[in-house]
Parts: sequence; C-alpha cells; structure tokens
Amino acid sequence: MCGIVGYIGKRQCAPILLDGLGRLAYRGYDSAGMAVLTEGKIQVIKAKGRLSVLEERTKNGTTVEGSIGIAHTRWATHGEPSDVNSHPHISQSGKFAVVHNGIIENYRKLRTFLTEKGFTFMSETDTEVFAHLIEYYYNGNLVETMWKVMRKIEGSYALGVLCDDYPDSFLAVRKDSPLIVGIGEGENFIASDVPAILKYTKKVCYLEDNEIVVLKKDNVTVYNADGETIDKEICTINWDVASAEKGGYEHFMFKEIMEQSKALQDTIHPRIKDGEIVLDNIVLTSEYLNSVDKIFIVACGSAYHVGVAGKYVIESLVGKPTEVDLASEFRYRNPIVTDRTLIIIISQSGETADTIAAMREAKRLGGRVISIVNVVGSTIAKESDEVLYTWAGPEIAVATTKAYSTQLACMYLLGIYMSQKLGKLSDAEQKALVAAVKALPEAVEKILSCRENVQFMASRFYNSKNIFFIGRNLDYAVALEGSLKLKEISYIHSEAYAAGELKHGTISLIEDGTLVVAPATGERLFDKMLSNIREVKARGAVVMAIAAEGNTAIAEEADYCLYVPKTHPLLTPSLTVIPMQLFGYYVASIKGCDIDKPRNLAKSVTVE
Ligand code: BG6
Repeated sequence: MCGIVGYIGKRQCAPILLDGLGRLAYRGYDSAGMAVLTEGKIQVIKAKGRLSVLEERTKNGTTVEGSIGIAHTRWATHGEPSDVNSHPHISQSGKFAVVHNGIIENYRKLRTFLTEKGFTFMSETDTEVFAHLIEYYYNGNLVETMWKVMRKIEGSYALGVLCDDYPDSFLAVRKDSPLIVGIGEGENFIASDVPAILKYTKKVCYLEDNEIVVLKKDNVTVYNADGETIDKEICTINWDVASAEKGGYEHFMFKEIMEQSKALQDTIHPRIKDGEIVLDNIVLTSEYLNSVDKIFIVACGSAYHVGVAGKYVIESLVGKPTEVDLASEFRYRNPIVTDRTLIIIISQSGETADTIAAMREAKRLGGRVISIVNVVGSTIAKESDEVLYTWAGPEIAVATTKAYSTQLACMYLLGIYMSQKLGKLSDAEQKALVAAVKALPEAVEKILSCRENVQFMASRFYNSKNIFFIGRNLDYAVALEGSLKLKEISYIHSEAYAAGELKHGTISLIEDGTLVVAPATGERLFDKMLSNIREVKARGAVVMAIAAEGNTAIAEEADYCLYVPKTHPLLTPSLTVIPMQLFGYYVASIKGCDIDKPRNLAKSVTVE
C-alpha cells in the first residue's frame, strides 16, 4: 500500500522525506513524490518509477529548499502508474497539496460534483478529489475545512495536507488507514509506518480514526471528531527497523495473513451498492452474458486454485459451462475459444509469463478477457478487456495469502454480478448471498483470533513426512491451496485429493500416523466426507478436520477439529483456507524455514 512521510522542523525537509520514503519502500510502490513549502509557495516534484528517479531530480533533496514538506510512495489503486497519477496532488489554484493512503469509495460522484463546480482534474486518481474538495470548502481555517471534507468522503484515508496560507504548520488526518505522528526535538513528523522516522525519533503517537493533527516544529495539536483538542499517549518504539517493516510481525507472510480481513473489506465493500454488486466500471450486459456459451478460468499456482473454486461458484450462480485451466496448459492446447467465450484471467502480479501468454492466445482466438489482478497497470491489467482489481495492497511474501483471499472474493463478486444480470437468483437468495459476502472480513478476523488452536496442531505435526489434504466440491478446491501452502514454505511433501477419488490410488499411501487434513464444511456432501474420513482412519491416518461451528458430528470421527464460522455454502473456501494458511505458516516457522523467500520459488514467474 502507499507510504506517507511528512516533516516540519529546523532542518531542510527534502532529504528527510526521501530517507523516510526509502524506509517505506518495502511496502511496494510504483511512483513517488514530494511537496515542499519553499518561500511560501508549494513546490511539487513527483515521478513514476523508483525512488531513485526522485532522488535524481532533487539531487538527493539538496535542490529543494524548505523545512515543511509531505511525501508519498504510491501503490496504484485508481489510475495506472504515471507521473501525473503520482502523489502529491495539488488543488486547482495550487494552494493545497495532498498525499493519501487509502481508497475514496465515492470518488466518482465527488469528481462529477467538483467538475460541475469548475474544477479540472489532471489525473485518474481518487486522491485528487481531496485536493479540490479542500479548496472548494476552504474558509481560511484548514481544520474546520477538513471536517467538512471528511463528512463528504466515504472510504479510507491517511492524508497529509500542505497549505501555503500556513507557513509554520501542516495537517494530517486518519480514517481506516494507519498514520503515526513522530515527536522530535524542534521537529515533528507524520508517517504511514514506524520505519520511516525511527532514525529521527522513537517517540510516536498513533492517530485514531477521524482525528486531525496539526504539526508545528515545536508542538502538535490533535483534534477529535468533535473538534476538541485531545491529549495523545506518546509511545516509545523499541523495535529495530527490520522488524518494524513487518509491523512487528516476524515474517511478511504472517503480517499478510493477519491483513486479510482488511484486504477483503477493501476489495468487497466498494463493490456492494444498495444490495447489488457493482464492478467498478466493468459492464457486462445481459445481452452479452446471454450470448456467452463457455467460460474459461485460467491462471497459475494459487491463482489457479482460486479458479478451481471459481468453477463451482460460477456454474452454480450463472449456469454457464465453466472450465478451469492451468495457463501453461491452456496456451498450448489449441483451446476452443470463440467470440462467445468469456475468459477470466487471475494473477496477483499481472506479470506471470504463462498467464500473459494464455490471455493473449484467448484474445487472438476472439474471446473476451476479464482479469482479476492485484498490481494496477500490470501487463495483464492493461491488456485484458476489463480488469477487476483486488485491493490487497502489495504482497511481499512469496507464498500468497491475502491476494488469494481477495481473488476469491472477486470471483464471488463476479459470479453474483453475472447472476444478477441473468436474473438467476431470487431477491431473497441475492440478499442472503450479498450479506454473506459482506460478512466475510469479520468472519476471517474471528478465525484469526483463534489462531493458537492451529499453532497447537502445527506443534503436533511439524515433523510429518507426508501430509494429505482431502475434500469434496469447494472443500477440494481449498484443499489444493492448503496443500500448496504447506509444501511451498515447509518443504513437507503433501498432496490434495478429491476425497471421492482417494480409493482410486492415494489411499495406498496412508500409513499409521499419516496426517490427513479434511476440510468438511460442505453440508450437501458431509456424510460422504465422513465416510472418507472413516476410510483413511481405518488405515491408520490421523485426521484434522476443518468444519463449521456447531458441527458436532465431525468431532466423533476426526481426531482433531478446527472450526470456522458458518457462511453461505458457496463462500466456505474464504474461511476454510485461513486455518490452512496458518497451519503451513506455523509448521514452517517451527521448522525454521525461510518463510518469506522459500527456496526455488519466485513471487512472480515472469519467464516461461
Ligand atoms: C507463483 C507464486 O510464482 O506464481 C504463487 O509463488 C502464485 O503465489 C503464482 O499464485 C501465480 O502468480 P500470479 O502473480 O500470476 O498470481
């Protein structure tokens, strides 16, 4: 996600801003910029690309005079990486400059409103709305202006604001996106995260939602949503920078597992409007969807596993034949694609070579391509006919977790959207399904809060030589991902098998004490799963089941049971996957594996 740094004090700010941005680079970014108050005027320098471009343009900050400034590393969500889409954004008159981390969900409506008021937008970003809206409401008091603006904005933001009427202070505000205030000697800071300012001060305070902070070089004033000034607790950071980059977590993978509730919220929430699913600016008409006679879902790795689940979801909701394929196979097997074929391409990076090739082959054959991608402006995002972004933020660990979960969420959104267009669901069914999707972030948070149960399981089985995952229907789809997670980071051999297929081969590998992980959340096939659990137990297996809360029958058959909240039958993978991610993580952690950078693996395989 984006990174923000701000400074006011006794020193030239540009070098400090650059240094702070450099320490936030781990968050992933595609462009960077700064705004500095120089002799009462706001000077903005910003560029697409690495921080080195900004360092070059400012000669490491030495060519930019001024001791008040805000700076930003951008992780694109709205508008692809470019100079003009980089932050800071300035208001029409140039009086205000803003840097923003978060998503304005109602930015289109506000953009229309401001355009009608005569404001001209330079960028494709949601953030630029802040700059013009502040100018529109500005009455000479910036704090009062911010309250008016905050009442109009829907979404998440950590925001830094510079105004040339204020030569001795700048302002910041926070809602849903973290922002800290660094307290120095004759200087003060804002930052998205501790590493940016740890070099200058260990004294910080954490802004809460809807708090505004005004920073001067010798003091900071914090206002709550009622306009009262409040005292904030000042904490002393005792982390080192390395651990601070992971938010205090030991590994990026664990940090990203724990971020899933927010990633799901950011991905789902802006796409539910008045009980209906909207897909940003994607429009699939009923006429087009009625003409579609085949759907392909094509991807690699964990993204492919999303596709396996997606097949069940799409066929159930949309009633169209749906085939899921590995990109490396699809691209060479002369797939049967016509102009009535819809191809859903899934890719976190948007740069996986096999997936790019599969997309191009599908387009060459006349198909229409919708992609589900996490990196804005990536090759797949740019070349597909439509793109539905996951807003998971940058995923640093090689083994995907939050990107997988948000891809799954986008698959649900797409399935419900198409079902809406084709009138496949009754109002009651639609309402129940949308409500269940909306409740996923909270359900995931609940599972994460019970993670010590999984940690116990990992401590029992981390020495296993073989671990099998079995499931039926959507539980099989998620078993594939659970098995891959374990393999990728703990190097334990594992296989995922359709439970009904077990007796046709793999069951010969079950020995005394072999661990079998059995997700059994599907109600319709639950009795069949119980039979499969009995089958493997009869051959000596130890079974760890994953079931819906309240399911007591499973406890009579399985040796161990991890519970997840009940949800809509089509959404169970989003919950069942969480214990599996945690299991793989804890096993690898106990084994001392290199969790964030497993041997032989790459975050994105950009070569064939
Ligand atoms: C692998 C990653 O290299 O590529 C997996 O380790 C990922 O996590 C797979 O699922 C596909 O990558 P992408 O970026 O196309 O989703």
